[in-house]
Amino acid sequence: MIEFTPLEVHNPARYSCGGPPDTPRPMTLFLRENHPDPMIGVEVGVLEGAHAVSMLSLLNISNFYLVDPYLPYGDLTDLILEKARIKAIRYTKEWDDIVEWVYYTSKDAANIVPNELDFVYIDGPHSYSNTYFDINAWYPKVKGGGYIGGHNYGNTKGAVPTVEAVHEFMENIGIEVPGWDYYNKWACTHLPPHCDWWVRKPE
Ligand SMILES: C[S@@+](CC[C@H](N)C(=O)[O-])C[C@H]1O[C@@H](n2cnc3c(N)ncnc32)[C@H](O)[C@@H]1O
Repeated sequence: MIEFTPLEVHNPARYSCGGPPDTPRPMTLFLRENHPDPMIGVEVGVLEGAHAVSMLSLLNISNFYLVDPYLPYGDLTDLILEKARIKAIRYTKEWDDIVEWVYYTSKDAANIVPNELDFVYIDGPHSYSNTYFDINAWYPKVKGGGYIGGHNYGNTKGAVPTVEAVHEFMENIGIEVPGWDYYNKWACTHLPPHCDWWVRKPE
């Protein structure tokens, strides 16, 4: 059974899934309350760096790998992504000594970034296959006792590809997935598609 220290995560004012850094997401708040020691972390999918800044502002991070190829897909054109990349560099400048940019796809970045990570936050494309792929690529890189999680986790089972990918991956590797009600406790039920999921890797 994966165990988390109970928190008041049902307080939407406090555990908003909205924009950072004034409204941090649930996984950030969980790590803040439970992990005072310096952490080595990764964000997969950075865009303008808004969430990266939230984590940098609120967590004790010694190294933060920001993974994003900034390659066009869907509605995200070259121009939009280049503007986003420049903004992200500007927003994270204050943490230059901690941040390491990895301008590769999740797959290639997983071969570059060191292992034994304290946390990985997955927020790349949210299709089932991408999410499953990202969890599969990054889970082995998290140290025992570390965390893997991400964004866009809905509160209706089967409604959101992220949910299906998370559950299927965890079941496939034999990690007991906490029951749906348990996840709901950790999600922001007022904003179904925009919440965090996370699990602790067994030691
Ligand atoms: C939802 S946005 C990230 C938002 C950001 N995490 C935030 O909350 O502020 C998704 C990002 O994933 C990036 N992306 C797309 N394909 C990717 C891949 N294969 N590996 C890593 N990142 C990818 C996109 O360039 C885009 O910036």
